[in-house]
Amino acid sequence: MSQNREQWGSKLGFILAASGSAVGIGNIWKYPHMAGENGGAAFTIVYLACIFVVGLSIVVAEFVIGRKTQLSPVGAFETLAPNTNWKWVGYLGVASAFVILSYYGVVGGWILKYIINSISGGFSGLAGNPDAAGDTFNGFITSSYGPLFYQLIFMGLTIFVIIRGVKGGIEKWSKIMMPLIVVLLGVLAVRGMTLEGGMKGISFLFNPRFEDLTASAIVLALGHSFFTVSLGMGTMITYGSYLDKKQNLMNSALWVLFLDTAIAMLAGVAIFTTVFALGANPAEGPGLIFVVLPTVFGQLTGGTIWGTMFFILLFMAALTSAISILEVVTAYFIDQMGWSRKKATIQFGALITVVGAFCSLSYGGGINITGFLGMPFFDVMDYLSSKYMLPIGGMLTAIFILKKWGIGEYMKELKTGMGDADISENLIKVFLIIAATVVAFIIFNEVYFEITGKALIG
Ligand code: PFF
Repeated sequence: MSQNREQWGSKLGFILAASGSAVGIGNIWKYPHMAGENGGAAFTIVYLACIFVVGLSIVVAEFVIGRKTQLSPVGAFETLAPNTNWKWVGYLGVASAFVILSYYGVVGGWILKYIINSISGGFSGLAGNPDAAGDTFNGFITSSYGPLFYQLIFMGLTIFVIIRGVKGGIEKWSKIMMPLIVVLLGVLAVRGMTLEGGMKGISFLFNPRFEDLTASAIVLALGHSFFTVSLGMGTMITYGSYLDKKQNLMNSALWVLFLDTAIAMLAGVAIFTTVFALGANPAEGPGLIFVVLPTVFGQLTGGTIWGTMFFILLFMAALTSAISILEVVTAYFIDQMGWSRKKATIQFGALITVVGAFCSLSYGGGINITGFLGMPFFDVMDYLSSKYMLPIGGMLTAIFILKKWGIGEYMKELKTGMGDADISENLIKVFLIIAATVVAFIIFNEVYFEITGKALIG
């Protein structure tokens, strides 16, 4: 099977595709508001520590497993540990992909709608008026057909790219969209910094305020480090499976982490400089993007252009992530079930879109699917995946290497393609142990909180 397996066309293509998966709504929407609310640079320091200790270990682990087996998660675990239950880590990954993409596609649809709103001058009516902007946003997401229509378009585009395969779809579009994201964000960041009062946004983001850094912010930073680097569900196993033995996996992983972090910070700069310059509320939380920014763009000279640029780059970031999620599901049906790429992508892309429609409608658009865990179905999907499924998947991957596959075999594959670079087996082992332990504690803390109402920390 591996003889005919699709492969990346170049190292650059692979790095752009993997960082395209990592850079998404998590970087441009979640990170800035999390950092803004939880102590600025104090949060960022913790976040960086999580990324470079836990995140790095798991990205490298996923790349190594994928490249070694040349298979997507289920087949990969089955090959390395035949006839054991480890393949369930792979199934957990496919299930997580299903869960995440269902609501991610809905947010992708909201972003498309905001591109249209911006182009049609819709933000000027919201200038400096967060209440009106809040009503517009809530009115939209709680309606029935509008969000479904845009979600359908977003998912259609995701399916379109994945049908075209690894090189002709994922790699080609990542190579176009990733540089554009960086350029557009760079332009917006410079624009923000040159606005009068914009620099106050930089100090808000980069001055450490340790008094705002609570224990729960630390838990948040760890959970987010999984989401933002697309870890714990086999995305990076799948992408790694299209690599040849010449690639230096450690080097590629560092590139992906660097780009992911740098783009999150650039997004923070672009957003907070503009928000501060125009005196809007920086601690708006999740509403920052869809509520505060339209009011700000509405006030800015040339706001239609800036606003449109922002939502287009956010759309591209969301799309390069969504394709990587769908690829996990598609690759499973190709590798394990022998389906054609086209059949797998269309059937499961469509099914995920239908589940996503229920997420969208759970915000009030006609079907009332609240009740389970006491939150809308949309939030349930987000909660289950970010708080449990991804961290558990990542932790089990680390444990798998330490306990089942063996660090020796793991190191052999990791060192392939690294030339003479010397890398300490013990160091890698310690990092994996730290990753597994920290995540296990956080998951335990979470479960303990759900059961007793009190957290050990946070
Ligand atoms: N990393 C993406 C983001 O930051 O938006 C989200 C994501 C993509 C999570 C792919 C998980 C995944 F497998």
